[in-house]
Amino acid sequence: MSYLKISVMKYLLALLCIIGILAMVLTKSKSPPYEPGHIEKTVKCKSDLMERRQLPPADPRPVLYVVTPTYRRVEQVPELTRLGQTLLTVPHLVWMVVEDADACSPHVAALLDRLGMPYVHLASAMPAQYRSERYVPRGVSNRRAAMTWLRDQSPQPTGVMYFLDDDNTIDIRLLEQMRHTKKVSMFPVGLVADYLVSSPIVQEGRVTGWFDGWIVDRQFPVDMAGFAVNLSLVMASDALMPYHAGYEEDKMLRAFGITMDEIEPLANQCTEVLVWHTKTKKNQPPSLRREVASHPNSNIAALAENMERIAMATT
Ligand code: UGA
Ligand code: MN
Repeated sequence: MSYLKISVMKYLLALLCIIGILAMVLTKSKSPPYEPGHIEKTVKCKSDLMERRQLPPADPRPVLYVVTPTYRRVEQVPELTRLGQTLLTVPHLVWMVVEDADACSPHVAALLDRLGMPYVHLASAMPAQYRSERYVPRGVSNRRAAMTWLRDQSPQPTGVMYFLDDDNTIDIRLLEQMRHTKKVSMFPVGLVADYLVSSPIVQEGRVTGWFDGWIVDRQFPVDMAGFAVNLSLVMASDALMPYHAGYEEDKMLRAFGITMDEIEPLANQCTEVLVWHTKTKKNQPPSLRREVASHPNSNIAALAENMERIAMATT
């Protein structure tokens, strides 16, 4: 090969390297940072805490703050109805329902009011920069808003915080167990990844490792519904959940600075599944305009209108 050919090849190689590095930098910088760089807008809709029957001021038990992110879709009202009616049976519990929206929806407000349990209703939309991500950090803006409310607005900032998605299923015995969390308690979550469970590994009463299908580089490879935190930990720091899909739990727990020795294993030393990461089939809202027209003087018009009100149809 001539000297000229070799030098041209060298240049080409160098050019390819530069293009490769540039591509890497560009794709990396496309991903927005895990903190949005501005304060997210939260709308405080209504909180009804003390007057309701389950939160009598004199009750000495720690209060459970169950934080549930939610967003408008066909399945929203059935999910919230099912979960809400479960939580309703647990005394001394505040349900914090946070909508991923610019404003609170009347149908969610009506549901909360009807249930008659102590609640906090907020709305905090996901910053637009994260919506187009490959892995969207779902429910993060909602949970951050709830944590900020607990820090800044809670009239009684003691108790235990627990994240429970609107589509999850819980055995109320677990809620009673986690009420007494001193720092951080953990427990198995069913229907997660390949093992159909994500759980701490417990040896002689201590958490020594993790039984989870996706450990990767996570220090605390747990499901969002797999841990509860005493509010003293939340109040002692200003850590919020990062907008980093897959790493939300891990990074937040790391920020709280907990150690393995401090983790309190529940659910009978993590031998029982008492909460499940259930998933509901997603549906598209049908347009019922023609059906309404073809059934005049009947219930169908009112039915379709009610369905539209709760995001189940368009007319
Ligand atoms: C899993 C985790 O269990 C979630 O806690 C985590 O937020 C999510 O992945 C993630 O990191 O993306 P998964 O069942 O896959 O949950 O997600 P969804 O059930 O769709 O959403 C989790 C929660 O966020 C739900 O309560 C849902 O109502 C809420 N959500 C979802 C929003 O508020 N906005 C959305 O756009 C989507
Ligand atoms: Mn889910």
